[in-house]
Amino acid sequence: MRRAVYPGSFDPITNGHVDLVKRASLLFDELVVAIADNPRKQALFSHAERLEMVQKSLQDMPNVRVIVFQGLLADLVEQENCSAIIRGLRAVSDFEYEFQMALMNRKLSHSAETVFLMPSLRWVYLSSNLIKEIARHNGAIKDLVPDVVYRKLRAAFGRK
Ligand code: PNS
Repeated sequence: MRRAVYPGSFDPITNGHVDLVKRASLLFDELVVAIADNPRKQALFSHAERLEMVQKSLQDMPNVRVIVFQGLLADLVEQENCSAIIRGLRAVSDFEYEFQMALMNRKLSHSAETVFLMPSLRWVYLSSNLIKEIARHNGAIKDLVPDVVYRKLRAAFGRK
């Protein structure tokens, strides 16, 4: 069985992430979407909230499993017996950080081969940080995130 892990903060999951999950799930028998629980990183949503939003957003994809992880991604790759790490590349500006992470993960785990996928052009400009910023100022995000995320963001910023 060929299994891949798609790690991220997913704070919150966007339509760009969902697009990437769909693409990756066609390439592997199983895709593990792994939400990083990093206590040193200030997230808007708790890991339990992010887990719920990601699970609901991906519930119609049978070969996708969602987990929360702590510690090193390279260790998770070994534990979950994954042959690839999936990461999204949107623009050249993503590349430097992604390149560094991919090579470090390969150093830490020989089975950790990073596979970069590009989202559909319609989501290339999306990021979780931008979505939160727009939501905070009551901007239009409805067609950029799954419904469950839209509702959670409205509630997080005190709107019905
Ligand atoms: O969505 P993000 O914030 O870009 O995801 C970054 C993430 C979670 C993939 C990265 O921070 C990570 O792998 N964290 C786990 C700890 C780790 O392994 N760090 C070393 C990476 S080389």
